[in-house]
Amino acid sequence: MTIGIAALAGQALAADAKNGAAVFARCAICHSNTKGAPAKISPNLFGVVGRKAGTQPDFSYSAALKNSGIVWTPANLDKWTAAPAQMVSGNRMAFAGISSATDRADLVAYLATLKRWAGGLRRSDAEISECCAAPKKSKLNGMHNP
Ligand code: HEC
Repeated sequence: MTIGIAALAGQALAADAKNGAAVFARCAICHSNTKGAPAKISPNLFGVVGRKAGTQPDFSYSAALKNSGIVWTPANLDKWTAAPAQMVSGNRMAFAGISSATDRADLVAYLATLKRWAGGLRRSDAEISECCAAPKKSKLNGMHNP
C-alpha cells in the first residue's frame, strides 16, 4: 500500500522538476518553499504559481512589485527568473537571473509542485493520506480534489 503510493507519487513528478529542486537552491538563500513558513528576507514561494504578485501579507514588497499587476503564471515566472530587473524595474530582488532556459523551465516545474506539500518533493504520510485517501463524502463534498 505504502509502496504503491510512493510509486504513484514518483510517477507524477517529472525528472525536470527534480532538477528544478536543485536549481531552487539558488533561491532558497532568500526564499522559503514551505507551507505556512514566515517570510525570510523574501516572500514565501509556497503556492506561488497562479498567485498575484506582491500579496503575501507578512512581507513588505517594493511598490514596483506590489503595483505590477503581475500574476505568477509559468510564463511570467520564466521571464522573472531570467531577468527580474528587466521585467519589473525598481523591484528589490537582488538576483541577476538564470541564463539557461532549461534550468528556468525545470525550476518553474518545481515551483508548480509547491502546493499542498510542504517542501515540495517531500510528502509526509499524513499529507498523503489527507490528499489521496478515498474522499469521505460528508467532509469533502464540494471541496477541490487535487
Ligand atoms: C538575494 C535574495 C533573493 C534571491 C537569491 C532570490 N530572490 Fe526572489 N525575491 C527577493 C525579494 C527581496 C523579493 C521581493 C521583491 C520586491 O518586493 O520588489 C523577491 C520576490 C520574488 C518573487 C515574487 C513573489 C511574490 O509574492 O510576488 C518571486 C516569484 C521570486 N522572488 C522568485 C525567485 C526565484 C524563483 C529565485 C531563484 C531563481 C529567487 N526569487 C531568488 C529576493 C531574492
